[in-house]
Amino acid sequence: MEKILPEYRRQIGSFEVVDIDEKQVERLRGELDVDVPLDLRWTWNYASEVEELRALYERGKRGQWNAEEDIDWSAPFGRDEWFLPRENLLLLPTILTMMGKDEATCREAAFDEFAFTMSQLLHGEQAALQICGQLTNACPTMDAKFYAASQVADEARHVEVIAKFLQRKVGTIYPIGGTLKVLLDRLLEAPTWKTKTLGMQTLFEGVAVGIFDMIQKNCSNPFLSDLIRRVKQDEARHAAFGILTMRRTVRECSQEEMHEMEDFAYTILEALNANQQLDMLHVLGPKYGLDAGNVVSMMLSIPDWAKLNSDLFMHTVVPNLTRLGLITERTEGRYRERGILFGDRFGSGIDADVQASMN
Ligand SMILES: [Fe+2]
Ligand SMILES: [Fe+2]
Repeated sequence: MEKILPEYRRQIGSFEVVDIDEKQVERLRGELDVDVPLDLRWTWNYASEVEELRALYERGKRGQWNAEEDIDWSAPFGRDEWFLPRENLLLLPTILTMMGKDEATCREAAFDEFAFTMSQLLHGEQAALQICGQLTNACPTMDAKFYAASQVADEARHVEVIAKFLQRKVGTIYPIGGTLKVLLDRLLEAPTWKTKTLGMQTLFEGVAVGIFDMIQKNCSNPFLSDLIRRVKQDEARHAAFGILTMRRTVRECSQEEMHEMEDFAYTILEALNANQQLDMLHVLGPKYGLDAGNVVSMMLSIPDWAKLNSDLFMHTVVPNLTRLGLITERTEGRYRERGILFGDRFGSGIDADVQASMN
């Protein structure tokens, strides 16, 4: 099967990573124009054809909020507090704690890594904004066009709120990592509205909901918690759109199309996972005297690495793909081998917010 970024693959122990050097990341980041095939489709049916999407659109209208006015931007948020647990959620403070580094260094590293992660989410939100604009053109029913349009407004607000958060409270926006840039381009370039929906709404939204949820559940700063809660509520609707649309698509498509979608999903998640945060480690590692390759090698040697590594994927994206029939016996083994799938492939159940958006 085709792998993404084959030219940047190398072995660390028995694991194949994607590791892009800084010069090439710079080049990838500089590719601002992306050639996107887009089928625009008219419809003359203005009545509702897909009732659950129309209901989701109504929910979307009711759930609007204003990033400038509804957030208390004067509330404190600073680098002198532990707003996330010291270990287990972020890689750098976990490693530095294991190495016996002092409290202040670990806290500084936690802040830097969090800023990096939020910056990557910001760039992901921009991709979501662009792809939803595409979906408004390409989706065949008026219900889907309405829904996608309401998501365009949501994603613009997410770009706004996360950019303002980073500018006002953090002081830095880190540039996009090379792996993420290539993967987001893949989704933006996907040829049909079905693949675009699978890529953005199911895969990337699934991963993003996982990250937002893990931050929010563990976060002790009320300002950050409120901001993430608002974004996550919107994201739950987006994930519901992905599931509802993909369910129909899956029902109607051939075995061959199923295999294509299944392989597309695997290829994207495999490449994301193959980076093992090397893109982040190359940027922040040197400040803390850490060599990126050594950190990954150390993580890979932890006995329950697969369980730790799969946490994010098992949160939403893998269970959703499984429910859609897009992870089957045919591909389950590959996901396991790469530490993406661990335990029951159905996970622990659908995210409560996503479920609520579908009722
Ligand atoms: Fe978003
Ligand atoms: Fe979204």
